[in-house]
Amino acid sequence: MLVSVQQQESMDASVTIGAILRSAACVIDRVDAHWLLQSVLSVDIVFLMTHAELPLSLEQIACFQQLLARRIAGEPVAYLMGERGFYDLVFEVTPDVLIPRPETELLVETTLSKIPCGRRCNILDLGTGSGAIAITIARHRPDVNVTAVDFSPQALAVARRNAVKHSAENVVFVEADWFSGFINEKFDVIVANPPYIAEGDSHLDDLCFEPAIALVAQNNGLDCIRKIVTQAPDYLEHSGWLMFEHGHDQADACRRLLDKTGFIHIFTRPDLAGIDRVTGGQYGSIPA
Ligand SMILES: C[S@@+](CC[C@H](N)C(=O)[O-])C[C@H]1O[C@@H](n2cnc3c(N)ncnc32)[C@H](O)[C@@H]1O
Repeated sequence: MLVSVQQQESMDASVTIGAILRSAACVIDRVDAHWLLQSVLSVDIVFLMTHAELPLSLEQIACFQQLLARRIAGEPVAYLMGERGFYDLVFEVTPDVLIPRPETELLVETTLSKIPCGRRCNILDLGTGSGAIAITIARHRPDVNVTAVDFSPQALAVARRNAVKHSAENVVFVEADWFSGFINEKFDVIVANPPYIAEGDSHLDDLCFEPAIALVAQNNGLDCIRKIVTQAPDYLEHSGWLMFEHGHDQADACRRLLDKTGFIHIFTRPDLAGIDRVTGGQYGSIPA
């Protein structure tokens, strides 16, 4: 058990970085304990490793213990720290947004590979959440215009702060239900990481701290994907690309849907765990 603040006051002996980390590692993951203490002390991992004998103040101990209790209750480390690294940037996250996942980096990488060079392209990110996808693309391609949509004003507030943090001046944010904010607008590439978990899916038990609107979709988790795929042709330039993330068992359904809607050059890419994760296609006729 960790030493409580009261015990600490009466002990006079110091609680050191090394001691508090050893103690915390008995109740939470050791790496998580490091992250939390780094956050409390505003230091990096190297500092923790090289200052194991450094005594902590009562205030620091109390602050760490509060975070520890919340972590024990299951709250994700990213929410406790208020940030999460994604691709090559660090994004502010709050419980209003999904915590960006490493597998979504594949979607960014795939999108970057499909954006044409040599002209100012328009890119649309549907369901932007923290803005991780839109802002990473915007930072890597300052020559494109990125539009980022979400229907959650709270999520958009976080995304806007992240855009300022990363000086992503080529991103605009739109509060809308998927494509409803656009009339006669066309995009060269549309990217989306929509909610795709089916209602009642057991995976949701581990995700209870994240917003349900970011996770759950009707019709076996395919409802949002279906809306996006079927409406996308009206908003894509000729030969424009649509690509999106989906669940581990949804690739076949997504490919069929794209095919039925008239997409060509349909592809699916697996994530680092070998799970089909990103599917997309190009809209337009096959040249004769
Ligand atoms: C899975 S999260 C993706 C967040 C972020 N793009 C990422 O990859 O980390 C899905 C996002 O879609 C948004 N969303 C859900 N339904 C929507 C709708 N009908 N129109 C616009 N955005 C929607 C949610 O608010 C949430 O931010």
